[in-house]
Amino acid sequence: MLKSLYLQNFRNYQQLEFKPDNDFLILTGANGTGKSNLLESIFYLGTGYSFRQVKDDHLVRFGADYFLIRGVVNNNGIDYQIEFCYNQEQRKKITKINNKNALPGSCASYLPVVIFSPLDLMLVKGGPAERRRFLDLVVGQLRPQHIKDLHNYNNILIQRNKQLRFENISDDQLLPWDQQLVTVGSMIWKRRVVVLSQLLGRSAEVFKSLSEGRELAGKYKSQICDLKKDDDLEQCKLLFSEAIKKTRPHDRRVKATTVGPHRDDFALYINQREGRLYASQGEQRLISLALKIGQYHLLSQQDYLEPLLLLDDVFSELDAQHKLFVLKGMKQGSQVIATTTTPFKDGVVGKKSLTDDIIMVYRKIF
Ligand SMILES: Nc1ncnc2c1ncn2[C@@H]1O[C@H](COP(=O)(O)OP(=O)(O)O)[C@@H](O)[C@H]1O
Ligand SMILES: [Mg+2]
Repeated sequence: MLKSLYLQNFRNYQQLEFKPDNDFLILTGANGTGKSNLLESIFYLGTGYSFRQVKDDHLVRFGADYFLIRGVVNNNGIDYQIEFCYNQEQRKKITKINNKNALPGSCASYLPVVIFSPLDLMLVKGGPAERRRFLDLVVGQLRPQHIKDLHNYNNILIQRNKQLRFENISDDQLLPWDQQLVTVGSMIWKRRVVVLSQLLGRSAEVFKSLSEGRELAGKYKSQICDLKKDDDLEQCKLLFSEAIKKTRPHDRRVKATTVGPHRDDFALYINQREGRLYASQGEQRLISLALKIGQYHLLSQQDYLEPLLLLDDVFSELDAQHKLFVLKGMKQGSQVIATTTTPFKDGVVGKKSLTDDIIMVYRKIF
C-alpha cells in the first residue's frame, strides 16, 4: 500500500505532500484540478511510466526542468522508499529504491498497481505495444526477474541492431548476439505465455458473468510460431533460434531485428471473433474491464502482493455488478484511490482538503 507521496514539479504540482491514510479514498474536484495527474504519479510510482502514454517530458511542470516522485510504500509489513527523478535537459531518469539505483520497472512488485480508466479501451483498440506493455507489467508484478530480463533483452537488441547496420556483417559476427537474444528472449516468452493464460482464465470468468455467458478467449501472438504454455524453455529456445537464423537475410536488409518478443502481441476474441476487429465499443469496454478485473484478482490472490486499486473517473460509471466483481476479489484492507467530479454524500466518514480545489473524501464501503 501507498503510505505517503511527495511530488515536485510533476504536472500541475509544484510541490505536494499526500498521505492517503485510509483504505478507501475518493478525490473529488472539478475538471482540470489535477486529480488524474495525482493518480498518474501514483501509477508511475508502481510502474515507472505514465498510464496516459506520454513521454516523461510531458510530466514536467510547465516552465520547470525536472520532476520528482517519491513515495513510501508498505509491502508485507516492510516499508520501501521509491523515487523517480527525471531531468529534462539531460533526458535522464534516475530510479531509486531505498536510496539505491534501480531499474524503473523494478518498483512493480513493491507497489503493484491496477488502474481502471477510460484509456483502458486502448488495450483492445490500440496497437501491439500497448498490449505488450500491459502484459509485461502484470508479469513483472508477479515475477520481478522479468523486469531484469526485459532490460537485458533490450540492451542485446540495441547491440544486435547496431551490428546489423554494418554492410556485409557475417553470420559468425551476429551469432553471439543471436544466442544471447534467444536465451533471454525465451525466458521472457515463456513467462508471458504462462501469465497470459492465467490472466485470461480469470478475465474470461468475469466476462462470462458480465455478458450473459459469452466466451472471452485470447491467444499469444508471435510471428515465429504458436507458443504454448506447456512448451518448455528448451523448446522455446529451439524455435526462436531457428526463426532468427531464417530471418537473418531479411534483418540484414532492413537493418533491424524483426523477430522476437519485442514484436509480439496477443489477440482477444469474443465467441471466436477478434475483439479489435469485430466487437462493438460497448463490448470492447467490457473486454478491457474484464482484463483489468482479471489482473486485480490475479495479483490479490498472491499472498505476497497487496495490489493498490486506482479508479480514474470510472467510479460512478462502474455499475453495481462491476463493483461487486472488483470487491469479490478484494483482500481485506485493500487500498483504493478513486477520482470523481461528482460530490459524494453516501457513506462518507471523513473529509479533508488536499489542495485548494481537491477534497479527499473517505468512505467505508463501496
Ligand atoms: N506538464 C504540466 N505542467 C503543468 N500543468 C499541467 C501539465 N500537464 C497538464 N497540466 C494541467 O493539468 C490539468 C489537468 O489535470 P488533470 O489531473 O487531468 O485534471 P482532472 O482533475 O480533471 O483529472 C490541466 O489544466 C493541465 O493544464
Ligand atoms: Mg481526470
